[in-house]
Order: sequence, then structure tokens, then C-alpha cells
Amino acid sequence: AARSVDAESRFPFEELARGVDETHHVAKGYQAKVLLRWGDPLLPGAPEFDPYAQTAEKQLGQFGYNNDFVGYLPLPLGSRSSDHGLLWVNHEYTNTEVMFPGLIPAGMDRIPQDRAAQLITREIAEVEMAAHGGSIVELKRGADGDWTYVKGSPYNRRLSPLATEMAFTGPAAGHERMRTSADPTGTRVIGMMNNCAGGVTPWGTFLTCEENFDGYFIGTIDQSHPEQRNYDRYTVPGSRYLWGLHHPRFDVNKEPNEANRFGWVVEVDPYDPTSTPRKHTALGRAKHEGAGVVVNKDGRVVVYMGDDQVFEHIYRFVSRNRFDPNDRAKNMTLLEDGTLYAARYNADGTLTWLPLVQGQGPLTPENGFRTQADVSINTRHAATLVGATRMDRPEDIEVNHRTQKVYAMLTNNSDRRPVSPEHPSITHVDAANPRVGNLWGHIVEMSAPEDDHTAETFRWTILLQAGNPADPKVKATFNPATTENGWFACPDNCVVDGQGRLWVATDQGNSWPTSSGSADGLWAVETEGPLRGTAKAFFRCPIGAEMCGPFFTPDDTALFLAVQHPGVDGVSQVVATGERATFEHPGTRWPDFDEKVPPRPSVVVITKDGGGPIGS
Ligand code: FEO
Ligand code: CA
Ligand code: CA
Ligand code: CA
Repeated sequence: AARSVDAESRFPFEELARGVDETHHVAKGYQAKVLLRWGDPLLPGAPEFDPYAQTAEKQLGQFGYNNDFVGYLPLPLGSRSSDHGLLWVNHEYTNTEVMFPGLIPAGMDRIPQDRAAQLITREIAEVEMAAHGGSIVELKRGADGDWTYVKGSPYNRRLSPLATEMAFTGPAAGHERMRTSADPTGTRVIGMMNNCAGGVTPWGTFLTCEENFDGYFIGTIDQSHPEQRNYDRYTVPGSRYLWGLHHPRFDVNKEPNEANRFGWVVEVDPYDPTSTPRKHTALGRAKHEGAGVVVNKDGRVVVYMGDDQVFEHIYRFVSRNRFDPNDRAKNMTLLEDGTLYAARYNADGTLTWLPLVQGQGPLTPENGFRTQADVSINTRHAATLVGATRMDRPEDIEVNHRTQKVYAMLTNNSDRRPVSPEHPSITHVDAANPRVGNLWGHIVEMSAPEDDHTAETFRWTILLQAGNPADPKVKATFNPATTENGWFACPDNCVVDGQGRLWVATDQGNSWPTSSGSADGLWAVETEGPLRGTAKAFFRCPIGAEMCGPFFTPDDTALFLAVQHPGVDGVSQVVATGERATFEHPGTRWPDFDEKVPPRPSVVVITKDGGGPIGS
């Protein structure tokens, strides 16, 4: 029986063993090459990386920190080149405790704020700001098959919350709740923060999504402030970074509207290095994970989005206007105007898309929705009011362009509780979030009727519940063909390759020693036929890293993976110093393995020995 199962696999590579150690591993027959490291010079004249002499100015010319979403678009525009292109990389956040050798002590995130305030000088804060945002990098594949980046390319670009002006479009652009002392028009903002996953549009732009923006704000506003309800639901201020000590716009006492200018989906045109990135408020404000884009059969563009926090919602945007393959300028405006919906997962296996339109249903002035701008800014409230389902941390969502099915990663939610009829609560299990104390996450598959992504009613099912299938308490539901190496926990980023195959990256966070006991990595997941729900291990991160990217060239012969925060997550439990990973005691010094250099988040490119599609 096992033999016939093998014969049907769409992933005939030899599976990687589970485990954890100081370096990365890829399945036999493949090469993994480090392509771009934090600090690598990108812009003309940018200096080589020196962790002991880092400045904001240097960092603005170098590859940023904590690479998350990766996207590839071919050069020239409109071609399908898999040898030459532009890579987009998100720089989600910074690990202060490991990136400043000798300057920041162990356990930085747990020391009192007044002491932390002395350590976070303006220069340190601005290096962190410069290391956030995104990078655009020109890449080439040489005659030897080896990928390299083009140092100093005119396409190369760094975007950051320190130095990059962006524009707002859509219902909230210019609204009074978007105005600040630096921008009385409410139409421009410096930068973006905590960009997690993203997407690529068919007209050749990247979408990059602001996730945990709350962490960059400090201060307090009083309970009578009109933004208090908004702040409470978005957990602003999160006070994780102390930039507000030096840049008052991040102090909510001084600029109470600045937090409304983050939490958006941002569109970037990589082919024009002078273009202004645009934050599209029609797609709602959330802790946006990513953006899965599909051109519907009628030409309207649909974007699927997750809001990554426990008990938050899944969204869909449908453009008003239609995609035109011959009019890129018009396509660039498609995400400025349309209808936003939130998902209700019904117990009968149907899914209802609930429109978030001011004036409809409960979205009234009495409930705080005076105009559509209020719906855009307080999207979470609007979705909950109309009855959308509260999910187990919705992460990346991707459309399979071959089958038209849609896959949503629900990463975990340990706060999910059993049903208690006497005390009904949003924290109860429901059909789409069925596990109490869900430490391992699951994957939901959605199907549009007759492949119409604009339909009001879809069907949904759970593709698999993650976690160890050998432990009955976990209630994992991988296909039994999955080996002991093949199961995973905490799906996060994902991608569908050119052949319509699903690949899932994991992020177990600090809990990896108990969630799976194995490093994060990349798994191939079967979605069709008798092997549906089978997972197979392909790549493993070094200790303490989460797996991000992933993204393929159009011909699937190169796979870009992002190794984020190597040596950090869960390492205190493993290296047993009693402290979080620090420069003195990192979990690994990947990828340089130089005692003088901190571990560096880096993008890796995977190719097959002798060429050919990845995973074949
Ligand atoms: Fe930044 Fe939801 O992972
Ligand atoms: Ca993610
Ligand atoms: Ca993705
Ligand atoms: Ca993550």
C-alpha cells in the first residue's frame, strides 16, 4: 500500500529528517545558498556591514533586519524570466537584544522602562527604524546556475519608517482621524512598520502588510479620548519599541492619530524606484498578515487577508473596477475602490461574506460609523458587529491559481476554550476553530461556487489540523501517509507554486520545544487525491529562527526562503542560561559562524542539483 501511495505523490523528493541544530538543512539533491544577509550593502556607495559601527545612515543603504515575506517579479516587466528579476523582502521587526553587540544587555525586553529608556539612544532607535520596512533587490542567475544580487543596481531600494514617504488612498485618506501635526492633510505618512507577509499583483506590484504596528507606540490616552475604543481593540500602545522617546509621533499623548496611519496593506511598484508606495485604506485596518490576490473570471480583483491576533477575523476585498491586461496605470488604481467583507464560517460548511459598508446593518453613526472612513479605520469593530467569526490567529492566505481553492493558515490560539452554554463567549471553540487550547494551528480550505471569488457564499473545510499525530490528545488530522518527519506545528506563511502545489512555512515562536520539538521549516502539503492532507519536510531552519518567504520563480526552478531571527526563539529554554538569546549567548551565529558577528536574518535561495523544478 505504501508503494502505491509513493507513486501518487506530487512531491517525490527524499524527505528531510526532523531535528534542531545550529544550521539550516534542505532535502537531499538540493542546494541552499545564502543570498542576502542583514547588513549586506544594496544601494550605490553603501558600506560593508560592521556590527560594531552600525549607524542609521549605513543601515538605510543595507539589507534590513528580520526578513519575512519574499516576492519575485521578472525583469523586464511583463516577461516570465526565471533568471533575472526583482526581489521584494519585508523587514518585519528588529531584535534589539542581539543586533547591538555590547550595547544592550540580556533580557532587554524585561528591564524597567526607565532603564530601557537610557539604553535606547536616538541612534539606536534610528538604526532599528532604518532596519525595518522593506528592500527591493535586483537578482541574476549566472550561466553556472548560481543566483547573486546586483550591488548598487538602480532598481535597489530601501523603504523604512525613518525615511520613506508613502501616500494614502481610499475612504480614510484625508479623513480628520488620519491628520497629524506633521501631516495636516491626512494623506501622507513616513514609512510602514512590522510588515509581515504580503502578495504580488498580476500587474507587477508587491503588496506588503503592516502587522503588529501597536508595538511601536508609547504613552497613554485617557479613557474619555474618542480613539480609546479603537486603541483598546488594536492594543495600542504596545510599548514594545521606544522610538517615541525620540520621535514624538510614536507617543500617543502627543499624536493620538498617528496609530491610525499604520495597520494597512501597502502597494509598491518595484519597476519605478521613484514611485511613492500607497497604503490602501479600502482594504481595511488590521494587524494585516498578508494579501492573496486573484483576478476573478469577470475581471474584478479579489484580495484575501488575515488579521493575525487571537480571535480576529478573515477578510476579502472585491474591486469595483476590472483588470485590464493592457492598462497597467489603470490596474494600479484597482485597490483604491471596492468592497470589503468579513468571513462568517457556518457550522454547515458554508461561508458567508459579510459586507462592511457604512449605513448597512449595524454600521451606523450610533455605533461609531459615521462614514466609510470609520469602517476602514475600525475594521475589527465593524467585522465583529456584523457577526464575522473570531478565528485562531489568521495568518497567510493564498489562492491556488490552478484549482481556484483558497488556503488560510490559522497558526495557533492557546486561549481557545470549551463551550460553556451558561457563559457564552467569543473564546469558545466553533466549527472552524474546533480545538481547545489550540497550540498547533490548522489550515482552512475555501471554495468559491463556480470559481466566482466575488460570490456571497462559499464552502469551507479544514484541510488539516497540525501537531503530532502520534499523540491522541493533540487531535491532529494529517493524512496517515505523513511520516514522523512530515508533521508540523503552527503554519504561518505559505505559497502555491507554478504547478499548483501548496508549501507551508511554520512559526512556532518561543514554544517550539513543546509544539513540535523540532526547528521551524518548510513543508510540502498535498491538497488533492488520496494523499490530500499529507505533509513532507523540505527545509529546516537553524535553531531559534522562524521560516518565512517562501516564493518561487515562475518556472519553479528557484525557491526563495527567509530565515528570520536565527538564534532567538525559545533559545533560553534550550541554552539554559536563564536569559533570552543575547549577543553573548546566541543560539547560533548562523550564517557567518564568526564569534564576532551576531546571527543575521538572511534570505536563502534553493536550487535543484542539475536544475529542474523544486520538489520534483
Ligand atoms: Fe508576523 Fe503573523 O506573523
Ligand atoms: Ca507571518
Ligand atoms: Ca504567501
Ligand atoms: Ca510569524
